[in-house]
Amino acid sequence: MKYISIEQLDPDKDLILPCRKNQLELLKEFTGNITPDFEGEHATFQTFYGKAGNRIYALGIGEEKDAVKIGKAFQKLCFDTKKYWKDTMQLQGAALNAEELQKAIIGMEMGTYQIGRFKTEQKATTETTIQVVGSGDIAGPLNEGALIGATINRIKALVDAPANQKTPEYLGNWAKESAGLNKYKCTLLGKKELEEQGFDAVLAVGRGSENPPVVVVTEYMARPGDGIDIGLVGKGITFDTGGLSIKPSQNLHYMKSDMGGAAVVLGVVELAARMGLNINIVGVVASAENAVDSKSYRPGDVINSYSKKTIEIIDTDAEGRLVLADGLSYIIQKFQPHQVIDLATLTGSVVRTLAYSAAGMFTNNSEMATKMSDIGNRVNERVWPLPLYEEFETDLESDIADLRNFSGKPVAGAITAAKFLQAFTNEHKQWMHLDIAGVAFGDSHYAKMKSSSGFGVQLILEYIKTSIKK
Ligand code: BES
Ligand code: ZN
Ligand code: ZN
Repeated sequence: MKYISIEQLDPDKDLILPCRKNQLELLKEFTGNITPDFEGEHATFQTFYGKAGNRIYALGIGEEKDAVKIGKAFQKLCFDTKKYWKDTMQLQGAALNAEELQKAIIGMEMGTYQIGRFKTEQKATTETTIQVVGSGDIAGPLNEGALIGATINRIKALVDAPANQKTPEYLGNWAKESAGLNKYKCTLLGKKELEEQGFDAVLAVGRGSENPPVVVVTEYMARPGDGIDIGLVGKGITFDTGGLSIKPSQNLHYMKSDMGGAAVVLGVVELAARMGLNINIVGVVASAENAVDSKSYRPGDVINSYSKKTIEIIDTDAEGRLVLADGLSYIIQKFQPHQVIDLATLTGSVVRTLAYSAAGMFTNNSEMATKMSDIGNRVNERVWPLPLYEEFETDLESDIADLRNFSGKPVAGAITAAKFLQAFTNEHKQWMHLDIAGVAFGDSHYAKMKSSSGFGVQLILEYIKTSIKK
């Protein structure tokens, strides 16, 4: 959709009218002196008709000022009524502040997300222009909101894409195309380059698949020549069967979403470039398919890694930490970023701990933790701290190699996974790991099965904005 600012509403055209709870005076200007069956309860809406037969959508945005809730209400309205929208729609946004307006736009854009991309009959779509009346200059919230919403949709489409389409190479091509269009750098390391450069852990995980692994390196440099402000690393397992330590078949189809961390990294770098943020950012996606085959890596194998630390494989289903180990070592050695954040659908353990309500956050840097928590609460992509206690290190000691990839214990799985990653950060003082296994993929009002949530894009975008050099 397109969003433009206008000065005055046309009373004969379709309109969205946000209404706070029990504040319906404005609505009465359009509907006359009737008593509507509508109180402005959050995320409810009612359609009225103007004199010209035009639609007026009264949209409830609830009692308190809450930009996130406003976004959700707009998303629902758009999803439920988009099929009736014509090529222009008006929005009375004068009572919304800049943050609320931006969230409304993000929400509307997200409401256009079409999950049924592989259906033979596609829903007809109208390219609607939303004409917005705001207070003051609203170009910023309109443009940013449209960009963020559209990017989240692209990221959701990536995560929802089936694994027979979405191979590591496909993720690489996605990034290459985005980089070409949005003027940032993208380098793809294919099997040959990974072998030459020693990405042995990524290669081990990908060995069982006919779709070879790819490491995607994206770089957006607003100040070429300066250091890297932030490095992002994403787990890009395009399908996780568990490998020879095979997973049960129930819900296995959801393991197409095991590249949710990678998707966030791709989306945030794209957004940084499109928004022209004054930041130097590198995104690394370590992508492989964890498949079952006679060539698959085995439990008991000892493999090497980019860092040259040797790893004893206890469980081939603990594959995410292996590809991330190489991704982290690589980004830290090659780019020396000031801050490093990795995102991964890493463990079932974090889902048992925090369910679908927050990502597990691991860092020894309290400043990063506070900042991330605050932003998470603000954008409603919450993170909750879990510890990196030293005593968990013994769980990862191997008799025959430098470390093993699984403690073998049925407890604290999210923590031992994070401790494993920490061993590949070269004691970086500004590293954070986010385990998004419970939040990247879940229930929604528009799908029967679980689907991508887009979790992480707004969180990390807002976080990197805090590193912008003034
Ligand atoms: N991709 C899974 C984690 C996961 C579980 C993501 C549920 C989304 C929803 C990961 O690779 C995995 O299988 N982890 C194992 C590790 C274990 C074998 C040490 C787990 O958490 O059970
Ligand atoms: Zn796994
Ligand atoms: Zn996995």
